[in-house]
Amino acid sequence: MSASNDIRSLFKQFGGEPELYQEFTRDEHGRGGSPRWPLLPGSPVPELAPLSALAPEPSPAPFGGAEQQAPAAQAEAHDWSAAGLRNLLAKMAENPTPASVGTPRVAQLRPALEHIRVISVISAKGGVGKTTLAASLASALRRAGRQVVAIDLDPQNALHHHFQAAEASGSVMEDAGVVQAGQPWQELGKLSDDGVFVVAHGMIDENHRQEFEQGLHHDPLWLARHLADMQLAEGTIVVVDTPPGPSVYLRQALSVANLAVVVSLADPASYTSLPQVDKLIAAYTQERTDFAGAAYVINQVDHSRQMNKNITQILRGLLGKQMIGLVHRDQSISDALAYNRNVLGYDPHGRGCHDILDCAQALIGRLAIAAPTAQ
Ligand SMILES: Nc1ncnc2c1ncn2[C@@H]1O[C@H](COP(=O)(O)OP(=O)(O)OP(=O)(O)O)[C@@H](O)[C@H]1O
Ligand SMILES: [Mg+2]
Repeated sequence: MSASNDIRSLFKQFGGEPELYQEFTRDEHGRGGSPRWPLLPGSPVPELAPLSALAPEPSPAPFGGAEQQAPAAQAEAHDWSAAGLRNLLAKMAENPTPASVGTPRVAQLRPALEHIRVISVISAKGGVGKTTLAASLASALRRAGRQVVAIDLDPQNALHHHFQAAEASGSVMEDAGVVQAGQPWQELGKLSDDGVFVVAHGMIDENHRQEFEQGLHHDPLWLARHLADMQLAEGTIVVVDTPPGPSVYLRQALSVANLAVVVSLADPASYTSLPQVDKLIAAYTQERTDFAGAAYVINQVDHSRQMNKNITQILRGLLGKQMIGLVHRDQSISDALAYNRNVLGYDPHGRGCHDILDCAQALIGRLAIAAPTAQ
């Protein structure tokens, strides 16, 4: 079967708009690619572009369902009389605001976070590589000279396993974390040997987990408040790991995100789950002008498998500039965990490491963070 037949039958099987599909040649990809990774000495201070620079990428809207409806009242001039009000109320009844999954107007009440940039790593499906990529992207961003905090919002409490504690921090990455109420996160976190400040999720028994999640449900500003309380330096990048699918953790993570990094595999199950991610992002980021949209990373790409190769090509065509990179399947990426490392420290010359560095560079571009200036 030819590649074009393959692609036609994939569209038939999974839906999507074949006319949105674009073929990228290797040359075109190279031209659009980010520059090679700069390995900077020291830790110069980054300059943040204003939040207004966080213009969302024009979305090809491949999955449908993510579009936001502006309330009818905002779209047109109206009179301020009682009759005008009745008219507006009637319009609202006809066109109710899309369900916000109970999200209050978080953005308006939120503590100020303009001094930092938050990247939330998310997926609809489990096991796609969120934690692995969150950890290695955090290290890659740190290597590029940014101050980086990695926060684990997943009760699996796995993020800290991808880091080794710096000797100065005097201990291993232990089990205390965000579930410990009342303790400032500056004290809970540990500095990794590659310079990322890691705040683990922490271990919690089942009864307390339910209570904790109830608390998060009723306090949508919990994460925003903790981030504000940390008094992070201007330009710090915060990388937040989340559990798969809808959850109170995802809601917290998206309510502060400047960018949602969606991790997906190039397989049928991940492909069909992408509309759900779109809906979750739309539900939890609405009304936020400081949200730059979604950036997709296709993980565990394996060109020796025809289906994987074809779906990668389709996603590249559908997502356009929203796809910021791909990470090949690389045994070093999973082996690194055995040594409490991520792939940057474990196999710095491997393909996985290079892929991650390229993705981090693209993230910096999307976050509109100016190049660091030496002090
Ligand atoms: N590019 C890659 N190459 C090889 N193995 C990978 C790659 N990315 C992730 N893995 C492996 O895939 C498995 C799942 O990764 P990970 O735990 O990061 O997924 P996750 O999305 O965080 O899972 P969950 O949804 O349960 O939180 C791990 O064994 C990890 O080592
Ligand atoms: Mg995980």
